[in-house]
Amino acid sequence: MIKVEHLTKSYANVLAVEDVSFEVGEGEIVGLLGPNGAGKTTTMRILTCFMPATSGTASVAGYDVFTDSLNVRKQIGYLPENVPLYPEMRVNEYLLFRAKLKKVPSKERNSRIQECLERCGIREVEKQIIGTLSKGYRQRVGLADTLLHDPKILILDEPTIGLDPNQIRQIRQLIKALGEKHTVLLSTHILPEVEMICGRVIIINRGKVVAMDTPSNLLTSLKGGATVHLEVAGKAERIKSALSAIPGVTKVLGSENGDINNFVVEADGDKDIREDIFKCIVKNNWILYELRREKASLEDIFHQITTQES
Ligand SMILES: Nc1ncnc2c1ncn2[C@@H]1O[C@H](COP(=O)(O)OP(=O)(O)OP(=O)(O)O)[C@@H](O)[C@H]1O
Ligand SMILES: [Mg+2]
Repeated sequence: MIKVEHLTKSYANVLAVEDVSFEVGEGEIVGLLGPNGAGKTTTMRILTCFMPATSGTASVAGYDVFTDSLNVRKQIGYLPENVPLYPEMRVNEYLLFRAKLKKVPSKERNSRIQECLERCGIREVEKQIIGTLSKGYRQRVGLADTLLHDPKILILDEPTIGLDPNQIRQIRQLIKALGEKHTVLLSTHILPEVEMICGRVIIINRGKVVAMDTPSNLLTSLKGGATVHLEVAGKAERIKSALSAIPGVTKVLGSENGDINNFVVEADGDKDIREDIFKCIVKNNWILYELRREKASLEDIFHQITTQES
């Protein structure tokens, strides 16, 4: 549905996007993840025909964003970074105004507006002045606006920014629900967001794609393997040397705490060494109080990828 090839955009002397290529298939929810200034908004503005790229190509639903912008716009619902709304208008007036602008046929306008109000959970505020709505509700009005012309593809730039945790949760659920009918490309710098909503993540940093995969594949591909925390009663030195002798174990860090010792065991690759650790402890008649595997979080991966020197 979205195809981006070797896209580059420079502003005066800033290279905002550099040789970015990716695809988004029909029905996918893909997260564009990156720190501030990574080039997320720039990429989205190119895809939504707000500005041209310096080089490279991009197409949306088969239409070229440079040569066929009218058709591209018909296929896309775009929620910009700062949702521009008219604060003095009522929700239903605003949506009607937008529906006209988007050339929704007059006989369909009312039913489209009703459907969008319903899907975004804002029917009860349809007569309210936009300026008096909470930020979360204004965001929903923005989302309803993106849906008015029933686009196949939604491009949402930081849809949950500035919302409180409850509103964030509601907007995420809403986006997930929208993802059942639409292809969604959303940008965020919030990691749990992509883990919760997206089937696939494209991590960009300083204008370049640095990783692209499902959240779970990114997690398993993190180098360094797993870390296991354990709490064991017994002689610290003996335990440490026994643990170090387990095949695959690369490092054992320990702290003595009276009779009970805490250890952090690091192991190679994907192997789950908990079973071997458990057997080792039982064989030696030590008492195990805790055994916990710590998986790398997407946050670790993001940090690792976006802080590497290029
Ligand atoms: N109109 C502009 N003129 C000059 N430089 C710009 C312009 N717009 C963006 N930039 C620069 O391009 C780079 C990428 O910006 P962009 O807004 O795409 O990042 P972003 O990933 O959306 O960041 P954020 O998370 O802060 O929204 C930044 O270095 C930014 O300063
Ligand atoms: Mg941005």
